[in-house]
Amino acid sequence: MDVTRLKDSWKKVAAYGDEVPLFFYSTLFLTHPETRKLFPVSMAGQRDRLVGALGRIVSDVDRVDELVPFLQQLGRDHRKFAVVAEHYPAVGQALLHTLAHFLGPEWKPELAEDWSEAYGLVAKVMQEAADEAATTTPPWWEARVIRHERRTADVAVLCVQPEYELDFTPGQSVAVESRLRPNVWRYFTPANAPRRNGTIDFHVRLVGGGPLSTALVQGVQPGDTLRLGAPVGNRLTLGERRDVLMLAGGTGLAPFKAMLEQMRAEGTERRAHLFVGAPYARDHYDYPALHEMTRECPWLRVVPCVSREPARPGVEAGDAVDVALRYGSWSQEDVYVCGSPEMVTGSLRRLAAAGIADERIRYEDFDSSSTSGGNP
Ligand code: HEM
Repeated sequence: MDVTRLKDSWKKVAAYGDEVPLFFYSTLFLTHPETRKLFPVSMAGQRDRLVGALGRIVSDVDRVDELVPFLQQLGRDHRKFAVVAEHYPAVGQALLHTLAHFLGPEWKPELAEDWSEAYGLVAKVMQEAADEAATTTPPWWEARVIRHERRTADVAVLCVQPEYELDFTPGQSVAVESRLRPNVWRYFTPANAPRRNGTIDFHVRLVGGGPLSTALVQGVQPGDTLRLGAPVGNRLTLGERRDVLMLAGGTGLAPFKAMLEQMRAEGTERRAHLFVGAPYARDHYDYPALHEMTRECPWLRVVPCVSREPARPGVEAGDAVDVALRYGSWSQEDVYVCGSPEMVTGSLRRLAAAGIADERIRYEDFDSSSTSGGNP
C-alpha cells in the first residue's frame, strides 16, 4: 500500500471543504437510505463530524497499530449510533465514491485499491471491538435525570442515574443525547469518580446556539431520560504518581473534580493544585463544593481566578495559566489542561514559553478526529 499517495490524495480532496461532506452524505443516503435515521434530523449548519475524521483516520493507516486503542474505543462508541455491521460497507462505498468524484482523472485503480484496503483495516478494528463490547454492555445507557441545577445563566449541573452500571475512569468522557434533540450526541466528562449508586454529574455550559447544550441547560428536567455512550478518552486520566497541576477553564473543571475524587478515594500521597479560570467571580459555579473538598483534603489547593475583574480576597486576577505561573515554576508536576479550545491553546502556548516540557502536559484536543471530548 502506498501510504504517501493515500495521504496526498486525501489532502487534495479535503481542500474542497464543505462540498466533501455534502457529496458524501448525498451519496450515502441515496444509495443506503436506511442509514439516514442514524444522523441528526437537521444536518444543515452543523460542523461535519464524520467525513473529515473518516478521511484523516483512514489515510493514517500506516499508524494503525498505534491507533488500535483509539479505534477500538471509536468502534465501541459507535454502537450508540445504532451502527451495525452492514453499515460499514455502505460508508466505505460512499467514501470511495466521494474520493473518485473529487479526484477525477487522478482516481486510478491502484489508488482505489489502497483506499479500500485501508478502510477495511480500520473498519475491522472498530467492528471487532464493537462486537466484543456487545457481549457485555448495552449499545447505550438510558439515564434518568434526578437533579437539574441551573447554577448560572449559562451553566447547569445535572445528576443522572444510568439504568445499568456505566463504568468509567475519572477523566474519560461519555457522549450524551437527549430526546429533545434526537441523534445529536456531544461529549461531556463526568464530574465525579464512579459512585456506588452509579449516579453521574455533568457540568453543561450553554455553547452559543449548540442544540444539545441548549436542551440540557434550558429544556431538560428531572424525570427526563438521556442516553449515554460508552466512555472514551485517556488523555485526562491520571498518569504516573507525580504531583499534579490542573488548569481548568469554565466547565473544563469537570474532569478534574472526578480525578480529585479518585485521588481522595485512593488516599493519595501526591499534591494537587487546581487553578480554575472564569471571566467573573460569579461564574465560579462550583466553588462551595471545591472549597469543601480543600477542607477535607490537605494535599489539595484550589485557586479561583478571574480574567475580567480585579482580584479580591481568595480570588486571583488573570487566566488560570497566568496565575499558576505566578505561583510556581512547576518543574516536577504533571500538568493537565481542560477548557474551551481557545483556553487550551492559549494555556499550552504559555506553558511552552515557561519551559514546561511537552511530555508532562496532558490535555484534550477538541479535534473531530478525537472521540475524547470535554465540556467546552
Ligand atoms: C472506518 C470507519 C469509521 C470511522 C473511522 C468513523 C469515525 C467517526 C468519527 C471520528 C466520528 C466523530 C465522533 C463523534 O461525533 O462521535 C464519527 C461520527 C459518526 N459516525 Fe462514524 N466512523 C466510521 C464508520 C461509521 C459507519 C459505518 C457509520 C454508519 C452509518 C457511522 C456513523 C456515524 C454517525 C451517525 C456519526 C455522528 C455524525 C453526526 O453527529 O453528525 N460511522 N464517525
